[in-house]
Amino acid sequence: LDLQRKPRLDLLAGWAGAARGVDPFKSLLGSDHPVLEACAKYFFELDGGKKIRPTMVLLISRAVAAHAPAQGVNGSRAFTSTSESPTPLPSQKRLAEITEMIHTASLFHDDVIDEADERRGVPSINKIYGNKMAILAGDFLLARASVSLARLRNIEVVELLSTVIEHLVKGEVMQSRPQALLDGSGTGENGQAALEYYLHKNFYKTGSLMANSCRAAVLLAGGGDALQYQAFAYGRHVGLAFQLVDDVLDFEQTSETLGKPALNDLRHGLATAPVLLAARTFPDEVGDMVKRKFASEGDVERALDLVQRSDGLKKAKDLALVQAEQAMEAALTMNPSPARDGLIKLASLVVNRTS
Ligand code: FPP
Ligand code: MG
Ligand code: MG
Repeated sequence: LDLQRKPRLDLLAGWAGAARGVDPFKSLLGSDHPVLEACAKYFFELDGGKKIRPTMVLLISRAVAAHAPAQGVNGSRAFTSTSESPTPLPSQKRLAEITEMIHTASLFHDDVIDEADERRGVPSINKIYGNKMAILAGDFLLARASVSLARLRNIEVVELLSTVIEHLVKGEVMQSRPQALLDGSGTGENGQAALEYYLHKNFYKTGSLMANSCRAAVLLAGGGDALQYQAFAYGRHVGLAFQLVDDVLDFEQTSETLGKPALNDLRHGLATAPVLLAARTFPDEVGDMVKRKFASEGDVERALDLVQRSDGLKKAKDLALVQAEQAMEAALTMNPSPARDGLIKLASLVVNRTS
């Protein structure tokens, strides 16, 4: 017992303020900090974001509801089988938000790594506030997503989405340390290994978030293994298709149509599908440039020219189309419903987009 200690009063006065409605956390994390405000704006207000991940989660959630308990949805909560699409559960809506938060957080970090000064048609966070603030804004969104995830009170879903965060980082590391690509000449066995490495990296970078969040939406509905498997397959294939198309658009579109820098991959030394497939036609020229990460004078222009003179872009698009078809096949294993058809349409939109 410390009888000498005098009351400090400032602490008590602060909390009395909170009790009167002046929330001390609001000033710390709320929207009145310019960077966090900008980050919230990116997340909630900008139309430029495609919101593919939350759309996918909400569609899967509705499609799963068309399954009777005998077909793998065992919860009694919302699942009477009907052909109409009932609204998703509150937890599934929360999951949809979480997917977009994780995605946006990864983009804040990605734009720092890629030194990109534009995103969703407006200046990137790093361009406006600098790299340090962009990293912190990404961390902030990720922290918010983690709290939201914990509040779902579903340990399996927490595990799936935490694994996604690990995969996002792994994918980015694989991309910046592409040993398999650098070892390969671009053709033969090495060329095949380079392509497989690239696709594996794409799963970590893009497919995992879509696959695991689709599976998590089924889990939240109490869906069984078979449905979880198909939902995961759907998200994985859409993700792989999405990234292949992204890598094609980097060659074919302008910065204006993309709302972000074009030809960014070559300029940053990255060999994506169009280049790896062009290496089948021009093994030596392309292989050498891949190995030196397009770093010599004129490499970017030369690589672009070789890609355009080969069937690299066409082959990459074909790979994307096959992935989209596989996504559709996975969706078609689900019971018919408007939401199931929406999933099919989403897979086709992903491969037909121009930005
Ligand atoms: C966009 O790719 C980037 C990603 C899909 C993932 C980036 C992941 C990280 C930076 C790891 C950190 C992760 C978290 C969760 C904070 P891109 O550069 O090919 O596409 P772009 O053209 O849209 O920039
Ligand atoms: Mg980028
Ligand atoms: Mg990147």
